[in-house]
Amino acid sequence: MSRRGSGAPPIARDAKFKKADRSPSASGEPTRMDDRKDDRLDGQSGGQPGCPPDGRRGFGGAEKKAVSFAKGAAGGTGGPGTGRSGPSGQAPEAEVLMESRDLYKSFQAGGERLSILAGLDLTIRKGRSVAVLGASGSGKSTLMYLLGGLDRPTMGLVFSKGRDIFRLSESELASWRSKEVGFVFQFHYLLSDFTALENVAMPVLLTGRGRAEALEMAGPILDRVGLSNRKDHRPGALSGGEQQRVALARALVMGPELLLADEPTGNLDARNAAMVNELILQLVNERQLSAVVVTHNARLAKQLDVCLELADGRLHEWKG
Ligand SMILES: Nc1ncnc2c1ncn2[C@@H]1O[C@H](COP(=O)(O)OP(=O)(O)O)[C@@H](O)[C@H]1O
Ligand SMILES: [Mg+2]
Repeated sequence: MSRRGSGAPPIARDAKFKKADRSPSASGEPTRMDDRKDDRLDGQSGGQPGCPPDGRRGFGGAEKKAVSFAKGAAGGTGGPGTGRSGPSGQAPEAEVLMESRDLYKSFQAGGERLSILAGLDLTIRKGRSVAVLGASGSGKSTLMYLLGGLDRPTMGLVFSKGRDIFRLSESELASWRSKEVGFVFQFHYLLSDFTALENVAMPVLLTGRGRAEALEMAGPILDRVGLSNRKDHRPGALSGGEQQRVALARALVMGPELLLADEPTGNLDARNAAMVNELILQLVNERQLSAVVVTHNARLAKQLDVCLELADGRLHEWKG
């Protein structure tokens, strides 16, 4: 699994539950190839995604246009992470949480070099959300893996609060990821031998904290996704929508500032997808999360602050 480079997620060897799980997905992070297998369109999308300028609902008005993508758009004179990018005469933009600069990612496949990301820039501001739309194979998951430090770019930089995440040591990177990033993928990657509550508690256990504290932290967020009455169920006894809600709770149990959701409802039927999407929107809003949501669902995209389309290796404003 060379793609993930040295940014592999921690495994559950330190977990203090009865059955120690050693799969790489114990913390909810899939292997790169696992994720690719499941890539398909969201059942709700109904065709070409769009993001009309008036499409943002529930998150306020124009001031929320906070995620920029054009080269230099967020840098201002302050450099990465300074948050001083608001055009003069306008209200200052929210502080920058993450930035990618001139990101390149290519793969060697059958003697051919595939250029997937080619000079991609993205600025993610605190408390702001961005939808990433784009054709299958355009590199959306590749981008998410780079933003989460699960894979390394061929060239280019990813800053978190001004720190270049790929200059962190392995343990620093793992610690950054576990505290500051919550992942939700198309597949839930829950551990089948553990209950819903234990699955949610897993990221806490992986930081070395005790079982009692981990379960105590897991309870309220499982409750928030409406599943306290399923806490002792194992994933196999949950519906697809419930499994994704547990995965969402697990992503947020550590209180990250950034949520990375890669087609989070792509495997769900329309009704469950709508429920999970609504929950994501609510949680992003009430926790003031920064979020990057990859989706083919135009309705969901329109409710985020900015919609971008990944094409030709770069992000473009989606004009609809
Ligand atoms: N390890 C790899 N080796 C070769 N090609 C890869 C690898 N991982 C991804 N790709 C290719 O990169 C492209 C983008 O993949 P991906 O980021 O999963 O796209 P998306 O999420 O937009 O559907 C695809 O053409 C895919 O086949
Ligand atoms: Mg994908």
